[in-house]
Amino acid sequence: KRLILIGPPGSGKGTQSPLIKDEYCLCHLATGDMLRAAVAAKTPLGVKAKEAMDKGELVSDDLVVGIIDEAMKKPSCQKGFILDGFPRTVVQAQKLDEMLEKKGTKVDKVLNFAIDDAILEERITGRWIHPSSGRSYHTKFAPPKVPGVDDVTREPLIQRKDDTVEVLKSRLEAFHRQTEPVIDYYYKKGIVANLHADKPPKEVTAEVQKALS
Ligand code: AP5
Ligand code: ZN
Repeated sequence: KRLILIGPPGSGKGTQSPLIKDEYCLCHLATGDMLRAAVAAKTPLGVKAKEAMDKGELVSDDLVVGIIDEAMKKPSCQKGFILDGFPRTVVQAQKLDEMLEKKGTKVDKVLNFAIDDAILEERITGRWIHPSSGRSYHTKFAPPKVPGVDDVTREPLIQRKDDTVEVLKSRLEAFHRQTEPVIDYYYKKGIVANLHADKPPKEVTAEVQKALS
């Protein structure tokens, strides 16, 4: 399947992705994870992306479309994929359609992680991530077995630089202004499935499975 996950910061995209990936054996491409890796490695791409990311603004369409175009060439992404955090503007959605059209394919389903803004602050400020795998935990909702340590690798967990109350405000603003129109774009194509992303993780997973069956 060719899937897109759309939702505001903290809505659970990254949490649900690995579960979907394991079940359907797809390639998982998260532009946020890829950009954070580029920033950490101080690559030319990372240097360009850092300023916008720190402020909670979107990185330019050209940069992220370039990353996705490159990543989609991987053999593991030929039969299906999960895009987490892309497309986030209508221009990105159009570019993706063009990219897929060239290969004679299209997006099958868009999972819309619908949730009230009010819930997101607690989710974002309690999140701890394992940077190299992208796994995320929550001090209250999904605590690791040992505090501050990744369950699988035993490596230390960190907090994201943009996970502050202040930066969350601009991320939410960017979501409403630039990304919500993308949901409409896919509504018109009739491929959006709405999820109750405010429910506990397992219930959201069940809704995802239902939407994909
Ligand atoms: P990105 O990394 O995509 O961040 P985001 O969209 O803000 O989303 P998050 O990762 O914050 O949320 P999530 O939905 O994955 O939540 P999670 O599952 O971890 O982007 C970062 C930045 O990169 C952007 O601001 C931008 O600058 C740039 N960028 C990226 N893509 C771009 C693009 N296409 N174009 C331009 N710029 C781009 O869950 C959050 C927390 O809640 C966790 O602690 C988790 O354990 C917990 N949790 C999850 N589900 C539940 C639940 N059901 N109940 C209770 N707790 C839960
Ligand atoms: Zn995420």
